[in-house]
Amino acid sequence: MSTDPDPKTASRKLYIKTYGCQMNVYDSTRMADVLAPLGYRTTDEPSEADLVILNTCHIREKAEDKVFSDLGRMRKEQMQRPEKPLLIAVGGCVAQAAGEEIIHRAPYVDMVFGPQSYHKLPEMITKAIRGQGGQVELDFEANAKFDALPEESIPQGKSAFLAVQEGCDKFCTFCVVPYTRGKEYSRSVDELITEAHRLVDQGSIEITLLGQNVNAYHGTGPDGKDWNLARLISRIAKINGLERIRYTTSHPRDMDEDLISVHGDEPKLMPYLHLPIQSGSDRILKLMNRKHSSDAYLDTIDRLRRVRPDIALSSDFIVGFPGETDKDFSDTLRLVESVGYAQAYSFKYSPRPGTPAATEEVQIDESVKDDRLQQLQALLVRQQTAFNQSSVGKTLPVLFDREGKIPGQVLGKSPYLQSVHVRDAAHLMNHLVEVEITDAFQNSITGIIKGKIRDLPKAA
Ligand code: SAH
Ligand code: SF4
Ligand code: F3S
Repeated sequence: MSTDPDPKTASRKLYIKTYGCQMNVYDSTRMADVLAPLGYRTTDEPSEADLVILNTCHIREKAEDKVFSDLGRMRKEQMQRPEKPLLIAVGGCVAQAAGEEIIHRAPYVDMVFGPQSYHKLPEMITKAIRGQGGQVELDFEANAKFDALPEESIPQGKSAFLAVQEGCDKFCTFCVVPYTRGKEYSRSVDELITEAHRLVDQGSIEITLLGQNVNAYHGTGPDGKDWNLARLISRIAKINGLERIRYTTSHPRDMDEDLISVHGDEPKLMPYLHLPIQSGSDRILKLMNRKHSSDAYLDTIDRLRRVRPDIALSSDFIVGFPGETDKDFSDTLRLVESVGYAQAYSFKYSPRPGTPAATEEVQIDESVKDDRLQQLQALLVRQQTAFNQSSVGKTLPVLFDREGKIPGQVLGKSPYLQSVHVRDAAHLMNHLVEVEITDAFQNSITGIIKGKIRDLPKAA
């Protein structure tokens, strides 16, 4: 399909607000690709938009609340300018979970579509322009979506996302993802290699492979057999011009021997792994249906460190899961102490409708959750600061791909996914650069430029 805008429609503007995880960020870029042939160009200003898409997240109650307050704001915008119609669409995981209810609560919404239905946007928009409001599309077939998506037409920049797997069959008792994203689906190796080549041709030098359960990847290879994530990574690493590979999010149960080995064997695979454990208490892990013990997790980390001693580790934690005692919580603190994380995310348990844990009787008081979260975060902040401090004196390759707040300042990532900022370096934007780290902070590091690694072939 041609991406040349039709002159009649070329001035259409699209504003997408993305909530939640990286998969949603990827989906938002693909929605823009789907809408480009209709003449839609993205804008950062809702006031300029002809179409607003809220690409939503259902993971915690707060994320869901934000959507409804933003919808209220969009309604105001719509009312203020009757001369320039504004279509409002709600996509993503809240759309999948709440469906029709969104139209009941906000009847001015023109379209509601789930994460597997956005390839149908052109059809829905045509109907909406003709005055057909309140459409709901909640198809659940990930393969139908990927088969129908157009080629990527809008470059993602130096660092790109590539969805290799979608959905989850794990059913942790606190989590909505298996209900909003559906069952596990892995894209074929050929399809992914083609998409990865296209990203590199458009200028990307770093690709992060995405999936809700990315290390459960088992796509069909060119030989007709199932390939695992390790094999896919080794194949993608052969693409000339691609310098860095990452993947997220992994489940501890699916860290197989091949994947651990590839961390030692493949220099393009960055020495960083986000491996959520959620709790350090085996009793709570069982109640969460996590399917692994804390010892098994620690053993995986030992094996990773054996093949890649400098690997930086990250995790997600939930405090105040129903029934969590002081002893369970202290097991979590102990686990954190023994791993030593480079960074981590921690959340208060949020009961989600339709998940088994939400109806447990022993819900934990908000004040206890607050107190535990504070203690855990204090420890994680100490570890993150110590990790950043340990970089001082080292020279690290940094991919600068964003402008900082100060004129001339550029921001990028180290191999360990630390944020690096350097001043008076606008000319190094979009380059991989050696930086000697001189100072470390809680959330970032800085240093002196030692030189470009090499001129990279294309600009994104
Ligand atoms: N697929 C990923 C994570 C998906 S959600 C994985 O398996 O790890 C991201 C994180 O949100 C989870 O790791 C968990 O820590 C947190 N989370 C999920 N459901 C939650 C809930 N009901 N309350 C609080 N945090 C939650
Ligand atoms: Fe949710 Fe668990 Fe699946 Fe992760 S593994 S997406 S936490 S159900
Ligand atoms: Fe949120 Fe859906 Fe991602 S619930 S975390 S946007 S998979």
